[in-house]
Amino acid sequence: MSYNLLKGKKGIIFGALDEKSIAWRTALRCHEEGAQLVLTNAPVALRMGEINKLAEIVKAPVIGADVTNMDDLKKLLEASVDHFGGKIDFILHSVGMSLNLRKGKAYTELDYGFTQKTLDISSLSLHRVLRAAWDLDALNEWGSVVALTYIAAQRVFPDYSEMADAKALLESVARSFGYHYALRRKVRVNTVSQSPTRTTAGGGVKGFDGFISYAEKMSPLGNATADECADYCVTLFSDMTRMVTMQNLFHDGGFSSSGVTQGVIDQMEK
Ligand SMILES: NC(=O)c1ccc[n+]([C@@H]2O[C@H](COP(=O)([O-])OP(=O)(O)OC[C@H]3O[C@@H](n4cnc5c(N)ncnc54)[C@H](O)[C@@H]3O)[C@@H](O)[C@H]2O)c1
Repeated sequence: MSYNLLKGKKGIIFGALDEKSIAWRTALRCHEEGAQLVLTNAPVALRMGEINKLAEIVKAPVIGADVTNMDDLKKLLEASVDHFGGKIDFILHSVGMSLNLRKGKAYTELDYGFTQKTLDISSLSLHRVLRAAWDLDALNEWGSVVALTYIAAQRVFPDYSEMADAKALLESVARSFGYHYALRRKVRVNTVSQSPTRTTAGGGVKGFDGFISYAEKMSPLGNATADECADYCVTLFSDMTRMVTMQNLFHDGGFSSSGVTQGVIDQMEK
């Protein structure tokens, strides 16, 4: 069902890799709600070609940008403003990658060169995106920027490894830049802390199946799906949430506030 919540709004969606991606689901919902979009991903991801299917559906151009490269981001923002014929109203940062997880390195054996790259891609990239927008003054007043995060930033989930540190930094960047952007343009910046979700990035975490079923049992509403996350992002891009900024917002079916649930107790008593 569409409510036209984003009618007339223009947004950039980072990170749609395939149809399971949270960014892919969000692009579909934003389109249904009346937004005009630009899609972007790393050049290496674009070579897979999947994103062109999404681009056709949501009638958006695809512009490559590596989030670790400031020139790429500047060009992306300039090209987007050109395409829209005006400034941008919202940005979804749905980007994450851990080199140590990929290479199977445990948290106690991190390769710090890999860690720097992980932080650059997964956390500082939000600063870079906001900085590029700031320098070009590319966001409209009451614009909205959302980045996706995970509760491992607050509590230990051992196999999430260095991504926990990356998410803690990401959430801090959202708060700090959110302060400055609120004063300058009333732009809001928030992170959405999503339930574990079956995607390419999610599946990269060791023991993900056990992880996802545990979270399902520990959440009174169950795990939030990618489509439900997309719905939530739409509300944050809309004018209905104008005074929400510098927040880490849990979108997790109640997981973050549950100490234990009947589902977990039943499992332990088996
Ligand atoms: N899947 C989960 O369980 C889960 C839970 C909470 C938060 N998140 C977060 O949601 C976000 C989206 O992940 P997803 O689960 O949809 O997985 P995904 O693998 O579909 O998306 C990750 C995206 O990051 C992009 N990316 C990686 N390096 C890049 C670079 N250098 N430049 C530009 N883009 C780059 C990838 O191409 C990909 O499109 C991530 O920040 C992830 O940490 C995921």
